[in-house]
Amino acid sequence: LHVAVLMGGWSNERPVSLMSGEGVAKALESKGHKVTRIDMDRDVAIKLAETKPDVVFNALHGAPGEDGTVQGMMDLMGLTYTHSGLATSVIAIDKELTKQALVPHGIPMPGGRVVKSADIHERDPLPRPYVLKPVNEGSSVGVAIVTEDSNFGNPIGRDTKGPWQEFDELLAEPYIRGRELTTAVIGDRALLVTELRPKSGFYDFDAKYTDGMTEHVCPAEIPDEITQACKDLALRAHQLLGCKGTSRSDFRWDDTQGVEGLFLLETNTQPGMTPLSLVPEQAKACGMDYPDLVEAIIAEAMA
Ligand code: DAL
Ligand code: MG
Repeated sequence: LHVAVLMGGWSNERPVSLMSGEGVAKALESKGHKVTRIDMDRDVAIKLAETKPDVVFNALHGAPGEDGTVQGMMDLMGLTYTHSGLATSVIAIDKELTKQALVPHGIPMPGGRVVKSADIHERDPLPRPYVLKPVNEGSSVGVAIVTEDSNFGNPIGRDTKGPWQEFDELLAEPYIRGRELTTAVIGDRALLVTELRPKSGFYDFDAKYTDGMTEHVCPAEIPDEITQACKDLALRAHQLLGCKGTSRSDFRWDDTQGVEGLFLLETNTQPGMTPLSLVPEQAKACGMDYPDLVEAIIAEAMA
């Protein structure tokens, strides 16, 4: 096959996407496919039209590759591409829209509300502890956890500057104490549960992409009931949102509360494909190595 690998782009996750894209491109070359690497810019439509690929592997993270924009462009161009389509992407990139789509179907997600960033200086939007996050970023960009007496992540305070101040609005959610879990879906199958144990702080950008900063326990050492619940919820979220190819749902689990303490935080439609990423790790634990995973995602797109 001739595969165009779309990567880079201009979101805050550009460096992550370049890692994902290069991994995918090398894997495809190792399988004998012809690969054209395309760094997403304003001329991407022209580049794709000239390349005439059999299929586009979308390795973008964040806007405009995960929010429906690039999907709509490729729909118009009649291109076959991996991962979710336009409508799913628009909803799943937005953590508040995702709640509106999933909670009525019984998927447990944290409460909370969208607040103006400027108002956070005046008063706490929720009782502490709570989490502040941009509604439509990935890789924990701009996330802060505000505890009783301090905060982890980006500084919160009248006089402090933090990357979260780039965002006019933030989602405020109650902080769920306990454990960080994640489950990948490939095709119509939920794979495993991984527990992320950051060595310090929380599973933020550095903990995600710096080797050795987070212990990955795969499969997670948790009760069967919780494993099964994560897999059921990840698969149902994938189906309710209309995801295609692969997705990864992230959870918090308060382990003092049994299954009642399990909450889905979000479903990622363009999950990372870097050396430290979680979908490839779960696929490997299920006997599917990285190049096979890349080909499986392409096969889903071309089915
Ligand atoms: N947003 C990053 C790439 C992930 O979900 O893996
Ligand atoms: Mg995410």
